[in-house]
Amino acid sequence: MSVQYKKPRAMTVTGLSEIKQRGEKFACLTAYDYCSAFAASSNGIEVMLVGDSLGMVIQGHDSSLPVTVEDIAYHIRCVRRGNQGALLMADLPFMSYYGEKQSLKNAAIMMREGAQIVKLEGGAWLAESTRLLVQHGIPVCAHMGLTPQSINHLGGYRVQGRDPKQAQSMIDEALILQDAGASILLLECVPVELGRRITDALEIPVIGIGAGAHTDGQIMVWHDMLGLYPGRPAKFVQNYLKGNTSGIQGAIAEYADAVKSGAFPDEEHSYI
Ligand code: KIV
Repeated sequence: MSVQYKKPRAMTVTGLSEIKQRGEKFACLTAYDYCSAFAASSNGIEVMLVGDSLGMVIQGHDSSLPVTVEDIAYHIRCVRRGNQGALLMADLPFMSYYGEKQSLKNAAIMMREGAQIVKLEGGAWLAESTRLLVQHGIPVCAHMGLTPQSINHLGGYRVQGRDPKQAQSMIDEALILQDAGASILLLECVPVELGRRITDALEIPVIGIGAGAHTDGQIMVWHDMLGLYPGRPAKFVQNYLKGNTSGIQGAIAEYADAVKSGAFPDEEHSYI
């Protein structure tokens, strides 16, 4: 069967806000190269993330810590050439935003390479950097909940915000980052109810991964969505290639449709 590519209208941060305001959902996927970017952005994906997960799924490390600014910059160049109109988000990797000057310098590299928004892992302590980036025309996605760059501090890949005090402080810090100018919040590995509370409390769109069904968008790592990453998948992972007769393009389209219809994630793929 030949695959029909449709070039979508270019997505923007304001476009995502409009989707939230309409009460609709959007689908996001990581991308690291030309062909995956072309396929994702032609099959219903609104946001592509050049994530530092590339340290694991591309480079074979056991965490994202070894990833450098140049690694991300290289993959932005590859993804940008294949992008058919998705919003291109890029991670600022470990230790590339430890001060305001450092954040500006490295975010500027990502934007010059073709990113349209940068993602930073952390809470309220990033308010100043967020404000400064936004003042310089660089949109920011804040990444809270499980923040893999802090894996050694967190002590493992586990659900965050189960404790009511920690949950409340996550809500407070998300509001602080929104006030500082963040355009999007990405929430990783939190119980469904906390995902709902944070999404309802914020005006900006919230993208979830392992954060339940109530967030405005969902994201998955490319290799997880296709069942390519070795080992036991996390609870929030669903392999959309398995049993799909339309191949990779069909798997992407099915994932995007499932997110937009609210069918994914279901309870089986969420933390209670
Ligand atoms: O680096 C990445 O791919 C991410 C996703 C897990 C959201 O941050």
